[in-house]
Amino acid sequence: MENMKWWQKTLVYQVYPKSFADTTGSGTGDIRGILGKLDYLESLGIGAVWLTPVYPSPMVDNGYDIADYCSLDPAYGTMEDMEELIHEAKSHGIRIVMDLVYNHSSDQHPWFQESCRSRDNEKSDWYIWRDAKPDGTPPTNWRGIFGGSAWTWCKARRQYYLHTFASQQPDLNWENPKVRRALYNAANFWLEKGVGGFRIDAITYIKKPTEFLDGKPDAADGTVSIHDMTANTEGILEFLHEFRREVFDGHDIFTVAEANGVSPEELKDWVGEDGAFDMLFEFSHMNLQFPEGEIWCKEHPWKLTALKKALSDSQRATAQNGWYPIFFENHDQPRCVNQFFPQGGDRVLAAKAMAAVLLTLRGTPFVYEGQELGMSNVAWESMDCYDDISSHGQYALALQEGFSAEDALSFVHTYSRDNARTPMQWTAEKNAGFTTGTPWLPVHGDFAICNAETEGEDPDSVLNWYRKLSAWRQGKETLLCGSYEELLPEREDLYAFSRRLGTEEVYTIVNFSLHEVELPDIIPRGAKRVFGNYAEEKAGVLRGQEAVIYVVR
Ligand code: GLC
Repeated sequence: MENMKWWQKTLVYQVYPKSFADTTGSGTGDIRGILGKLDYLESLGIGAVWLTPVYPSPMVDNGYDIADYCSLDPAYGTMEDMEELIHEAKSHGIRIVMDLVYNHSSDQHPWFQESCRSRDNEKSDWYIWRDAKPDGTPPTNWRGIFGGSAWTWCKARRQYYLHTFASQQPDLNWENPKVRRALYNAANFWLEKGVGGFRIDAITYIKKPTEFLDGKPDAADGTVSIHDMTANTEGILEFLHEFRREVFDGHDIFTVAEANGVSPEELKDWVGEDGAFDMLFEFSHMNLQFPEGEIWCKEHPWKLTALKKALSDSQRATAQNGWYPIFFENHDQPRCVNQFFPQGGDRVLAAKAMAAVLLTLRGTPFVYEGQELGMSNVAWESMDCYDDISSHGQYALALQEGFSAEDALSFVHTYSRDNARTPMQWTAEKNAGFTTGTPWLPVHGDFAICNAETEGEDPDSVLNWYRKLSAWRQGKETLLCGSYEELLPEREDLYAFSRRLGTEEVYTIVNFSLHEVELPDIIPRGAKRVFGNYAEEKAGVLRGQEAVIYVVR
Protein backbone atom coordinates (compact mmCIF):
# COMPACT_ATOMS: atom_id res chain seq x y z
CA MET A 1 0.00 0.00 0.00
CA GLU A 2 2.81 2.45 0.89
CA ASN A 3 4.35 1.81 -2.50
CA MET A 4 1.16 2.55 -4.37
CA LYS A 5 0.98 5.59 -6.61
CA TRP A 6 -1.79 8.17 -6.25
CA TRP A 7 -3.52 7.02 -9.40
CA GLN A 8 -3.67 3.43 -8.19
CA LYS A 9 -5.69 4.44 -5.15
CA THR A 10 -8.29 6.62 -6.81
CA LEU A 11 -11.06 6.60 -9.39
CA VAL A 12 -10.77 8.17 -12.81
CA TYR A 13 -13.79 9.85 -14.36
CA GLN A 14 -14.08 10.26 -18.10
CA VAL A 15 -15.62 13.47 -19.32
CA TYR A 16 -16.86 13.72 -22.90
CA PRO A 17 -16.73 17.52 -22.93
CA LYS A 18 -19.12 18.00 -25.81
CA SER A 19 -21.87 16.30 -23.81
CA PHE A 20 -20.99 17.20 -20.23
CA ALA A 21 -22.15 20.71 -19.32
CA ASP A 22 -22.86 23.73 -21.50
CA THR A 23 -22.50 27.19 -19.94
CA THR A 24 -23.04 29.28 -23.08
CA GLY A 25 -26.28 27.92 -24.53
CA SER A 26 -24.44 26.76 -27.66
CA GLY A 27 -25.77 23.22 -27.27
CA THR A 28 -22.31 21.75 -26.75
CA GLY A 29 -20.47 21.41 -23.46
CA ASP A 30 -17.42 23.48 -22.54
CA ILE A 31 -14.50 23.76 -20.12
CA ARG A 32 -16.35 26.18 -17.84
CA GLY A 33 -19.07 23.57 -17.61
CA ILE A 34 -16.56 21.11 -16.19
CA LEU A 35 -15.29 23.78 -13.78
CA GLY A 36 -18.80 24.09 -12.41
CA LYS A 37 -19.00 20.39 -11.64
CA LEU A 38 -15.82 19.87 -9.65
CA ASP A 39 -17.73 19.56 -6.36
CA TYR A 40 -19.89 16.89 -7.92
CA LEU A 41 -16.82 14.98 -9.10
CA GLU A 42 -15.19 15.32 -5.72
CA SER A 43 -18.29 13.84 -4.09
CA LEU A 44 -17.68 10.69 -6.14
CA GLY A 45 -14.14 10.30 -4.86
CA ILE A 46 -12.63 11.10 -8.25
CA GLY A 47 -8.86 11.72 -8.34
CA ALA A 48 -8.44 12.32 -12.07
CA VAL A 49 -10.58 13.44 -14.97
CA TRP A 50 -9.76 12.17 -18.43
CA LEU A 51 -10.93 14.70 -21.00
CA THR A 52 -11.57 13.38 -24.47
CA PRO A 53 -9.99 15.75 -27.03
CA VAL A 54 -10.67 19.47 -26.62
CA TYR A 55 -8.20 20.65 -29.26
CA PRO A 56 -9.16 22.58 -32.41
CA SER A 57 -10.91 20.15 -34.69
CA PRO A 58 -13.29 20.07 -37.64
CA MET A 59 -15.19 17.53 -35.45
CA VAL A 60 -15.60 14.90 -38.13
CA ASP A 61 -14.93 12.39 -35.35
CA ASN A 62 -15.84 14.68 -32.47
CA GLY A 63 -12.36 15.92 -31.74
CA TYR A 64 -10.42 12.75 -32.55
CA ASP A 65 -9.43 14.61 -35.70
CA ILE A 66 -7.04 17.21 -34.33
CA ALA A 67 -5.93 20.30 -36.24
CA ASP A 68 -3.58 21.67 -33.56
CA TYR A 69 -2.19 19.68 -30.64
CA CYS A 70 -1.32 22.69 -28.48
CA SER A 71 -4.42 24.81 -28.26
CA LEU A 72 -8.12 24.63 -27.53
CA ASP A 73 -11.11 24.51 -29.80
CA PRO A 74 -12.95 27.81 -29.29
CA ALA A 75 -16.18 25.84 -28.87
CA TYR A 76 -14.74 24.53 -25.59
CA GLY A 77 -13.20 27.79 -24.36
CA THR A 78 -9.80 29.40 -24.11
CA MET A 79 -6.40 28.31 -22.90
CA GLU A 80 -7.06 30.44 -19.80
CA ASP A 81 -10.18 28.37 -19.08
CA MET A 82 -8.11 25.26 -19.44
CA GLU A 83 -5.38 26.53 -17.14
CA GLU A 84 -8.02 27.47 -14.61
CA LEU A 85 -9.51 23.99 -14.85
CA ILE A 86 -6.15 22.30 -14.29
CA HIS A 87 -5.53 24.57 -11.31
CA GLU A 88 -9.02 24.46 -9.73
CA ALA A 89 -9.31 20.73 -10.20
CA LYS A 90 -6.06 20.29 -8.28
CA SER A 91 -7.56 22.13 -5.33
CA HIS A 92 -10.36 19.51 -5.37
CA GLY A 93 -7.75 16.74 -5.39
CA ILE A 94 -8.39 16.07 -9.07
CA ARG A 95 -5.77 15.94 -11.83
CA ILE A 96 -6.67 16.58 -15.46
CA VAL A 97 -5.69 13.93 -17.97
CA MET A 98 -5.39 14.77 -21.66
CA ASP A 99 -6.15 12.56 -24.64
CA LEU A 100 -3.26 12.17 -27.10
CA VAL A 101 -4.44 11.24 -30.56
CA TYR A 102 -1.15 10.40 -32.21
CA ASN A 103 -1.95 7.72 -34.76
CA HIS A 104 -3.45 10.37 -37.00
CA SER A 105 -4.24 14.06 -37.19
CA SER A 106 -7.04 15.90 -38.94
CA ASP A 107 -6.69 16.45 -42.66
CA GLN A 108 -7.01 20.13 -41.72
CA HIS A 109 -3.82 20.05 -39.64
CA PRO A 110 -1.19 22.33 -41.27
CA TRP A 111 1.18 19.33 -41.34
CA PHE A 112 -1.15 17.41 -43.60
CA GLN A 113 -2.06 20.43 -45.65
CA GLU A 114 1.61 20.82 -46.46
CA SER A 115 2.24 17.11 -46.90
CA CYS A 116 -0.44 16.73 -49.54
CA ARG A 117 0.75 19.65 -51.63
CA SER A 118 3.61 17.86 -53.35
CA ARG A 119 5.90 14.86 -53.15
CA ASP A 120 8.94 16.88 -52.20
CA ASN A 121 7.90 19.44 -49.61
CA GLU A 122 9.32 19.51 -46.10
CA LYS A 123 6.47 17.45 -44.67
CA SER A 124 6.00 15.19 -47.68
CA ASP A 125 6.73 12.06 -45.65
CA TRP A 126 4.93 13.05 -42.44
CA TYR A 127 2.00 10.87 -43.53
CA ILE A 128 1.75 7.53 -45.29
CA TRP A 129 1.69 7.94 -49.04
CA ARG A 130 1.66 5.21 -51.67
CA ASP A 131 1.18 4.97 -55.42
CA ALA A 132 -1.99 3.48 -56.85
CA LYS A 133 -2.01 -0.08 -58.16
CA PRO A 134 -1.34 -0.15 -61.92
CA ASP A 135 -5.11 -0.08 -62.57
CA GLY A 136 -5.48 3.07 -60.47
CA THR A 137 -7.13 1.38 -57.48
CA PRO A 138 -5.91 1.82 -53.90
CA PRO A 139 -2.58 0.20 -52.93
CA THR A 140 -4.31 -2.49 -50.81
CA ASN A 141 -7.79 -3.82 -50.07
CA TRP A 142 -7.75 -2.55 -46.48
CA ARG A 143 -10.98 -1.18 -45.02
CA GLY A 144 -10.89 1.69 -42.54
CA ILE A 145 -12.35 1.11 -39.09
CA PHE A 146 -15.30 3.37 -39.84
CA GLY A 147 -15.96 1.61 -43.19
CA GLY A 148 -14.87 2.37 -46.76
CA SER A 149 -11.35 2.05 -48.16
CA ALA A 150 -8.49 2.92 -45.81
CA TRP A 151 -6.93 4.86 -48.72
CA THR A 152 -7.94 8.22 -50.15
CA TRP A 153 -6.66 9.69 -53.39
CA CYS A 154 -4.94 13.05 -53.33
CA LYS A 155 -5.08 14.83 -56.66
CA ALA A 156 -2.18 17.19 -56.02
CA ARG A 157 0.28 14.38 -55.27
CA ARG A 158 -1.35 11.79 -57.50
CA GLN A 159 -0.97 9.35 -54.64
CA TYR A 160 -3.07 7.67 -52.00
CA TYR A 161 -2.74 8.36 -48.27
CA LEU A 162 -3.57 5.85 -45.56
CA HIS A 163 -6.14 6.38 -42.82
CA THR A 164 -6.99 3.79 -40.20
CA PHE A 165 -10.19 5.70 -39.40
CA ALA A 166 -12.05 8.28 -41.52
CA SER A 167 -10.51 9.82 -44.64
CA GLN A 168 -10.32 13.10 -42.69
CA GLN A 169 -7.97 11.37 -40.22
CA PRO A 170 -4.74 10.68 -42.16
CA ASP A 171 -2.26 8.41 -40.35
CA LEU A 172 0.99 10.03 -39.24
CA ASN A 173 4.24 8.44 -40.31
CA TRP A 174 5.89 7.38 -37.04
CA GLU A 175 8.94 6.10 -38.94
CA ASN A 176 9.93 9.74 -39.44
CA PRO A 177 11.86 10.97 -36.37
CA LYS A 178 10.71 14.54 -36.98
CA VAL A 179 7.09 13.46 -36.64
CA ARG A 180 7.82 11.68 -33.38
CA ARG A 181 9.68 14.72 -32.07
CA ALA A 182 6.78 17.03 -32.91
CA LEU A 183 4.35 14.72 -31.12
CA TYR A 184 6.55 14.44 -28.03
CA ASN A 185 6.90 18.21 -27.92
CA ALA A 186 3.12 18.60 -27.91
CA ALA A 187 2.74 16.19 -24.99
CA ASN A 188 5.49 18.00 -23.10
CA PHE A 189 3.62 21.25 -23.66
CA TRP A 190 0.70 19.82 -21.67
CA LEU A 191 2.97 18.45 -18.96
CA GLU A 192 4.25 21.96 -18.45
CA LYS A 193 0.67 23.10 -17.96
CA GLY A 194 0.44 20.67 -15.05
CA VAL A 195 -1.72 17.84 -16.36
CA GLY A 196 -1.83 14.62 -14.36
CA GLY A 197 -1.45 12.16 -17.18
CA PHE A 198 -2.43 11.02 -20.62
CA ARG A 199 -4.82 8.66 -22.27
CA ILE A 200 -3.20 7.64 -25.52
CA ASP A 201 -5.56 6.98 -28.39
CA ALA A 202 -5.52 4.04 -30.81
CA ILE A 203 -1.87 3.41 -30.11
CA THR A 204 -1.71 -0.11 -31.53
CA TYR A 205 -1.94 1.26 -35.06
CA ILE A 206 1.09 3.56 -35.13
CA LYS A 207 3.51 0.96 -36.52
CA LYS A 208 2.80 -0.23 -40.04
CA PRO A 209 4.13 -3.41 -41.63
CA THR A 210 7.19 -3.04 -43.84
CA GLU A 211 5.30 -4.36 -46.84
CA PHE A 212 1.73 -3.38 -47.64
CA LEU A 213 -0.09 -6.46 -48.95
CA ASP A 214 -3.71 -7.30 -49.70
CA GLY A 215 -5.40 -9.30 -46.95
CA LYS A 216 -7.97 -12.07 -47.05
CA PRO A 217 -11.36 -10.35 -47.47
CA ASP A 218 -13.76 -10.43 -44.52
CA ALA A 219 -16.62 -8.51 -46.15
CA ALA A 220 -18.70 -8.96 -49.28
CA ASP A 221 -16.96 -6.07 -51.06
CA GLY A 222 -13.57 -7.82 -51.02
CA THR A 223 -12.07 -5.66 -48.27
CA VAL A 224 -10.38 -6.64 -45.04
CA SER A 225 -10.38 -4.64 -41.83
CA ILE A 226 -7.19 -2.62 -41.49
CA HIS A 227 -7.11 -3.73 -37.88
CA ASP A 228 -6.19 -7.25 -38.98
CA MET A 229 -3.37 -5.94 -41.15
CA THR A 230 -1.69 -3.34 -38.95
CA ALA A 231 -2.66 -3.67 -35.26
CA ASN A 232 0.22 -4.37 -32.92
CA THR A 233 2.84 -4.75 -35.65
CA GLU A 234 6.23 -5.99 -34.58
CA GLY A 235 8.61 -3.21 -33.66
CA ILE A 236 5.89 -1.01 -32.12
CA LEU A 237 7.35 -1.32 -28.62
CA GLU A 238 10.53 0.47 -29.70
CA PHE A 239 8.53 3.56 -30.59
CA LEU A 240 6.62 3.33 -27.36
CA HIS A 241 9.70 3.07 -25.18
CA GLU A 242 11.11 6.12 -26.86
CA PHE A 243 7.80 7.91 -26.24
CA ARG A 244 8.03 7.01 -22.58
CA ARG A 245 11.63 8.19 -22.25
CA GLU A 246 11.03 11.44 -24.08
CA VAL A 247 7.78 12.40 -22.38
CA PHE A 248 6.51 10.42 -19.43
CA ASP A 249 9.57 9.42 -17.43
CA GLY A 250 10.30 11.44 -14.34
CA HIS A 251 6.80 12.93 -13.95
CA ASP A 252 4.27 12.10 -11.28
CA ILE A 253 1.60 11.25 -13.83
CA PHE A 254 -0.07 8.17 -15.22
CA THR A 255 -0.48 6.93 -18.75
CA VAL A 256 -3.21 4.69 -20.04
CA ALA A 257 -3.12 3.62 -23.65
CA GLU A 258 -6.00 2.43 -25.77
CA ALA A 259 -4.73 -0.80 -27.20
CA ASN A 260 -7.24 -2.74 -29.19
CA GLY A 261 -5.44 -5.84 -30.43
CA VAL A 262 -3.22 -6.45 -27.41
CA SER A 263 -4.25 -9.53 -25.46
CA PRO A 264 -4.05 -10.00 -21.69
CA GLU A 265 -1.06 -12.35 -22.25
CA GLU A 266 0.85 -9.56 -23.96
CA LEU A 267 0.16 -7.01 -21.23
CA LYS A 268 3.47 -7.74 -19.54
CA ASP A 269 5.40 -6.23 -22.45
CA TRP A 270 3.27 -3.11 -22.50
CA VAL A 271 2.78 -2.09 -18.88
CA GLY A 272 4.71 -2.09 -15.64
CA GLU A 273 8.29 -1.25 -14.71
CA ASP A 274 9.70 -2.24 -18.09
CA GLY A 275 6.62 -1.54 -20.15
CA ALA A 276 5.81 1.59 -22.08
CA PHE A 277 2.70 2.65 -20.15
CA ASP A 278 1.23 2.43 -16.66
CA MET A 279 -2.04 0.92 -17.84
CA LEU A 280 -3.58 -0.37 -21.00
CA PHE A 281 -7.20 -0.41 -22.09
CA GLU A 282 -7.49 -3.77 -23.74
CA PHE A 283 -10.88 -4.85 -24.96
CA SER A 284 -11.09 -8.59 -24.42
CA HIS A 285 -14.03 -8.13 -22.03
CA MET A 286 -15.76 -5.53 -24.20
CA ASN A 287 -15.60 -7.20 -27.60
CA LEU A 288 -17.28 -10.44 -26.61
CA GLN A 289 -19.74 -10.31 -29.50
CA PHE A 290 -16.89 -9.78 -31.94
CA PRO A 291 -14.18 -12.23 -30.95
CA GLU A 292 -12.35 -11.82 -34.26
CA GLY A 293 -12.97 -8.08 -34.61
CA GLU A 294 -15.97 -8.66 -36.89
CA ILE A 295 -18.22 -5.89 -38.17
CA TRP A 296 -21.38 -5.19 -36.13
CA CYS A 297 -23.76 -7.21 -38.25
CA LYS A 298 -21.68 -10.34 -37.67
CA GLU A 299 -22.28 -10.39 -33.93
CA HIS A 300 -22.11 -13.61 -31.91
CA PRO A 301 -24.00 -14.43 -28.74
CA TRP A 302 -21.60 -14.24 -25.80
CA LYS A 303 -21.43 -16.17 -22.56
CA LEU A 304 -20.81 -14.93 -19.06
CA THR A 305 -17.93 -17.39 -18.75
CA ALA A 306 -16.20 -15.52 -21.57
CA LEU A 307 -16.62 -12.19 -19.78
CA LYS A 308 -15.32 -13.68 -16.55
CA LYS A 309 -12.36 -15.29 -18.25
CA ALA A 310 -11.39 -12.02 -19.92
CA LEU A 311 -11.57 -10.13 -16.62
CA SER A 312 -9.73 -12.83 -14.69
CA ASP A 313 -7.01 -13.10 -17.34
CA SER A 314 -6.39 -9.36 -17.09
CA GLN A 315 -6.43 -9.49 -13.30
CA ARG A 316 -3.83 -12.26 -13.38
CA ALA A 317 -1.72 -10.62 -16.06
CA THR A 318 -1.37 -7.48 -13.94
CA ALA A 319 -1.16 -9.15 -10.55
CA GLN A 320 2.63 -8.85 -10.24
CA ASN A 321 3.55 -6.41 -12.92
CA GLY A 322 1.67 -3.44 -14.27
CA TRP A 323 -1.73 -2.17 -13.30
CA TYR A 324 -5.22 -2.63 -14.70
CA PRO A 325 -7.69 0.10 -15.68
CA ILE A 326 -11.09 -1.39 -14.90
CA PHE A 327 -13.80 -0.13 -17.25
CA PHE A 328 -17.17 -1.12 -18.61
CA GLU A 329 -17.98 2.05 -20.50
CA ASN A 330 -16.38 4.79 -22.51
CA HIS A 331 -17.38 7.15 -25.29
CA ASP A 332 -17.11 4.37 -27.89
CA GLN A 333 -19.19 1.73 -26.13
CA PRO A 334 -22.86 1.13 -25.45
CA ARG A 335 -24.02 1.75 -21.89
CA CYS A 336 -23.07 -1.10 -19.56
CA VAL A 337 -26.60 -1.62 -18.21
CA ASN A 338 -27.57 -2.68 -21.74
CA GLN A 339 -24.35 -4.37 -22.72
CA PHE A 340 -23.93 -6.88 -19.93
CA PHE A 341 -27.45 -7.90 -18.93
CA PRO A 342 -30.17 -9.70 -20.85
CA GLN A 343 -32.96 -7.53 -22.24
CA GLY A 344 -35.92 -6.99 -19.95
CA GLY A 345 -33.90 -6.47 -16.80
CA ASP A 346 -34.02 -3.62 -14.35
CA ARG A 347 -31.80 -0.63 -15.17
CA VAL A 348 -31.09 0.39 -11.60
CA LEU A 349 -30.19 -3.11 -10.42
CA ALA A 350 -27.95 -3.55 -13.46
CA ALA A 351 -26.16 -0.24 -12.92
CA LYS A 352 -25.50 -1.05 -9.28
CA ALA A 353 -24.36 -4.58 -10.08
CA MET A 354 -21.84 -3.32 -12.64
CA ALA A 355 -20.62 -0.75 -10.10
CA ALA A 356 -20.12 -3.51 -7.53
CA VAL A 357 -17.79 -5.32 -9.95
CA LEU A 358 -16.08 -2.14 -11.15
CA LEU A 359 -15.29 -0.98 -7.63
CA THR A 360 -14.16 -4.27 -6.13
CA LEU A 361 -11.82 -5.60 -8.83
CA ARG A 362 -8.10 -4.89 -8.57
CA GLY A 363 -6.98 -1.84 -10.55
CA THR A 364 -8.04 1.74 -11.11
CA PRO A 365 -11.76 2.04 -11.82
CA PHE A 366 -12.74 4.31 -14.73
CA VAL A 367 -16.24 5.76 -14.57
CA TYR A 368 -17.66 7.23 -17.75
CA GLU A 369 -19.93 10.28 -17.41
CA GLY A 370 -23.50 9.21 -16.69
CA GLN A 371 -22.50 5.66 -15.77
CA GLU A 372 -22.82 6.72 -12.12
CA LEU A 373 -26.46 7.62 -12.83
CA GLY A 374 -27.23 4.38 -14.62
CA MET A 375 -27.68 6.06 -18.00
CA SER A 376 -28.79 3.66 -20.72
CA ASN A 377 -28.78 3.28 -24.53
CA VAL A 378 -30.99 5.24 -26.88
CA ALA A 379 -32.86 3.80 -29.88
CA TRP A 380 -33.68 6.57 -32.34
CA GLU A 381 -36.00 5.78 -35.19
CA SER A 382 -33.89 6.99 -38.09
CA MET A 383 -30.24 7.15 -39.07
CA ASP A 384 -30.72 10.90 -39.49
CA CYS A 385 -30.76 11.22 -35.71
CA TYR A 386 -27.32 9.63 -35.39
CA ASP A 387 -24.18 11.75 -35.46
CA ASP A 388 -21.51 9.08 -34.90
CA ILE A 389 -19.44 8.61 -38.06
CA SER A 390 -18.80 4.96 -37.27
CA SER A 391 -22.53 4.21 -36.88
CA HIS A 392 -23.10 5.46 -40.41
CA GLY A 393 -20.22 3.37 -41.72
CA GLN A 394 -21.41 0.23 -39.94
CA TYR A 395 -24.98 0.82 -41.11
CA ALA A 396 -23.79 1.01 -44.73
CA LEU A 397 -21.74 -2.15 -44.28
CA ALA A 398 -24.74 -4.02 -42.87
CA LEU A 399 -26.85 -3.04 -45.91
CA GLN A 400 -24.02 -4.10 -48.17
CA GLU A 401 -23.92 -7.46 -46.38
CA GLY A 402 -27.59 -7.96 -47.29
CA PHE A 403 -29.36 -6.96 -44.06
CA SER A 404 -32.64 -5.04 -44.23
CA ALA A 405 -32.72 -1.37 -43.24
CA GLU A 406 -34.64 -2.38 -40.13
CA ASP A 407 -32.00 -4.91 -39.08
CA ALA A 408 -29.18 -2.50 -39.86
CA LEU A 409 -30.84 0.11 -37.64
CA SER A 410 -31.22 -2.39 -34.83
CA PHE A 411 -27.43 -2.98 -34.89
CA VAL A 412 -27.00 0.76 -34.59
CA HIS A 413 -29.35 0.78 -31.61
CA THR A 414 -27.24 -1.84 -29.89
CA TYR A 415 -23.75 -0.64 -30.73
CA SER A 416 -23.78 3.02 -31.74
CA ARG A 417 -21.26 5.17 -29.95
CA ASP A 418 -23.99 7.79 -29.64
CA ASN A 419 -25.46 5.60 -26.90
CA ALA A 420 -22.71 6.94 -24.67
CA ARG A 421 -22.68 10.45 -26.10
CA THR A 422 -26.13 11.77 -25.28
CA PRO A 423 -25.95 14.79 -22.97
CA MET A 424 -25.20 14.29 -19.32
CA GLN A 425 -28.37 14.34 -17.23
CA TRP A 426 -28.05 16.88 -14.45
CA THR A 427 -31.62 17.75 -13.50
CA ALA A 428 -35.25 16.98 -14.32
CA GLU A 429 -35.55 20.35 -16.05
CA LYS A 430 -35.53 21.08 -19.78
CA ASN A 431 -32.67 19.36 -21.65
CA ALA A 432 -31.77 17.64 -18.38
CA GLY A 433 -30.06 20.86 -17.29
CA PHE A 434 -27.30 20.23 -19.83
CA THR A 435 -27.94 23.33 -21.94
CA THR A 436 -30.32 26.25 -22.29
CA GLY A 437 -29.93 25.96 -26.06
CA THR A 438 -30.57 23.06 -28.39
CA PRO A 439 -28.43 20.07 -27.42
CA TRP A 440 -26.13 18.86 -30.20
CA LEU A 441 -27.45 15.32 -29.65
CA PRO A 442 -30.90 14.60 -28.21
CA VAL A 443 -31.17 14.05 -24.46
CA HIS A 444 -32.16 10.54 -23.40
CA GLY A 445 -35.88 10.25 -22.76
CA ASP A 446 -35.50 9.01 -19.18
CA PHE A 447 -33.88 12.16 -17.77
CA ALA A 448 -36.80 13.02 -15.49
CA ILE A 449 -35.89 10.09 -13.24
CA CYS A 450 -32.29 9.45 -14.19
CA ASN A 451 -30.41 12.64 -13.35
CA ALA A 452 -27.83 13.82 -10.83
CA GLU A 453 -30.13 16.13 -8.87
CA THR A 454 -33.01 13.70 -8.37
CA GLU A 455 -30.66 10.83 -7.65
CA GLY A 456 -28.65 12.96 -5.27
CA GLU A 457 -31.71 13.24 -3.02
CA ASP A 458 -32.52 9.54 -3.06
CA PRO A 459 -30.37 7.46 -0.70
CA ASP A 460 -31.07 4.34 -2.77
CA SER A 461 -30.13 5.83 -6.13
CA VAL A 462 -27.41 4.58 -8.43
CA LEU A 463 -25.50 7.82 -7.80
CA ASN A 464 -25.46 7.36 -4.05
CA TRP A 465 -24.53 3.72 -4.46
CA TYR A 466 -21.47 4.87 -6.42
CA ARG A 467 -20.62 7.45 -3.77
CA LYS A 468 -20.89 4.93 -0.95
CA LEU A 469 -18.96 2.20 -2.74
CA SER A 470 -16.28 4.62 -3.84
CA ALA A 471 -15.75 6.01 -0.32
CA TRP A 472 -15.69 2.51 1.11
CA ARG A 473 -13.18 1.31 -1.49
CA GLN A 474 -10.88 4.23 -0.82
CA GLY A 475 -10.47 3.20 2.79
CA LYS A 476 -10.16 -0.51 2.17
CA GLU A 477 -6.66 -1.77 1.57
CA THR A 478 -7.92 -5.22 0.63
CA LEU A 479 -9.67 -3.69 -2.37
CA LEU A 480 -6.83 -1.42 -3.30
CA CYS A 481 -4.07 -3.95 -3.24
CA GLY A 482 -5.35 -7.37 -2.16
CA SER A 483 -5.11 -10.45 -4.34
CA TYR A 484 -7.90 -11.61 -6.68
CA GLU A 485 -9.40 -15.03 -7.00
CA GLU A 486 -12.28 -16.04 -9.23
CA LEU A 487 -14.81 -18.46 -7.76
CA LEU A 488 -17.21 -20.74 -9.61
CA PRO A 489 -15.65 -19.94 -13.00
CA GLU A 490 -17.90 -22.42 -14.83
CA ARG A 491 -21.20 -20.78 -13.80
CA GLU A 492 -23.00 -19.06 -16.68
CA ASP A 493 -25.20 -17.00 -14.38
CA LEU A 494 -22.96 -15.86 -11.54
CA TYR A 495 -19.75 -13.88 -11.34
CA ALA A 496 -18.11 -14.38 -7.97
CA PHE A 497 -14.64 -13.40 -6.83
CA SER A 498 -12.77 -12.72 -3.66
CA ARG A 499 -10.10 -10.20 -2.76
CA ARG A 500 -7.74 -11.00 0.06
CA LEU A 501 -5.17 -9.14 2.13
CA GLY A 502 -3.74 -10.69 5.29
CA THR A 503 -6.70 -12.14 7.12
CA GLU A 504 -9.34 -10.00 5.47
CA GLU A 505 -11.41 -11.12 2.50
CA VAL A 506 -13.96 -9.29 0.41
CA TYR A 507 -16.42 -11.32 -1.66
CA THR A 508 -18.39 -9.97 -4.59
CA ILE A 509 -21.19 -12.03 -6.12
CA VAL A 510 -23.38 -10.87 -8.97
CA ASN A 511 -26.26 -12.72 -10.54
CA PHE A 512 -26.12 -11.74 -14.21
CA SER A 513 -29.34 -13.63 -14.98
CA LEU A 514 -32.85 -12.28 -14.51
CA HIS A 515 -34.02 -15.22 -12.38
CA GLU A 516 -33.53 -16.23 -8.79
CA VAL A 517 -30.84 -18.82 -8.01
CA GLU A 518 -29.67 -20.53 -4.87
CA LEU A 519 -26.87 -18.68 -3.08
CA PRO A 520 -23.81 -20.89 -3.61
CA ASP A 521 -21.97 -22.07 -0.55
CA ILE A 522 -18.81 -20.01 -1.04
CA ILE A 523 -19.10 -17.35 1.62
CA PRO A 524 -17.32 -18.27 4.85
CA ARG A 525 -19.35 -18.35 8.04
CA GLY A 526 -19.33 -15.07 9.91
CA ALA A 527 -19.02 -13.00 6.77
CA LYS A 528 -20.81 -9.68 6.94
CA ARG A 529 -23.00 -8.50 4.08
CA VAL A 530 -21.85 -4.92 3.56
CA PHE A 531 -23.55 -3.99 0.30
CA GLY A 532 -26.56 -5.34 -1.58
CA ASN A 533 -28.43 -3.80 -4.49
CA TYR A 534 -31.76 -5.08 -3.14
CA ALA A 535 -32.90 -3.24 -0.05
CA GLU A 536 -33.61 -6.40 1.97
CA GLU A 537 -31.59 -9.55 2.12
CA LYS A 538 -33.39 -12.76 1.14
CA ALA A 539 -31.76 -15.69 2.86
CA GLY A 540 -30.26 -18.48 0.79
CA VAL A 541 -30.92 -17.01 -2.65
CA LEU A 542 -29.74 -14.43 -5.14
CA ARG A 543 -32.57 -12.71 -7.00
CA GLY A 544 -32.32 -11.67 -10.65
CA GLN A 545 -29.45 -9.15 -11.10
CA GLU A 546 -28.70 -9.23 -7.39
CA ALA A 547 -25.22 -8.04 -6.37
CA VAL A 548 -23.88 -8.58 -2.89
CA ILE A 549 -20.57 -7.74 -1.25
CA TYR A 550 -19.40 -9.50 1.92
CA VAL A 551 -16.44 -8.94 4.19
CA VAL A 552 -14.88 -11.53 6.44
CA ARG A 553 -11.94 -11.21 8.80
C1 GLC B 1 -10.29 5.78 -30.51
C2 GLC B 1 -11.28 6.72 -29.88
C3 GLC B 1 -12.44 6.90 -30.82
C4 GLC B 1 -11.92 7.50 -32.09
C5 GLC B 1 -10.78 6.68 -32.67
C6 GLC B 1 -10.05 7.44 -33.72
O1 GLC B 1 -10.77 4.53 -30.68
O2 GLC B 1 -11.66 6.24 -28.64
O3 GLC B 1 -13.46 7.66 -30.28
O4 GLC B 1 -12.95 7.57 -33.03
O5 GLC B 1 -9.83 6.34 -31.70
O6 GLC B 1 -9.29 8.45 -33.14
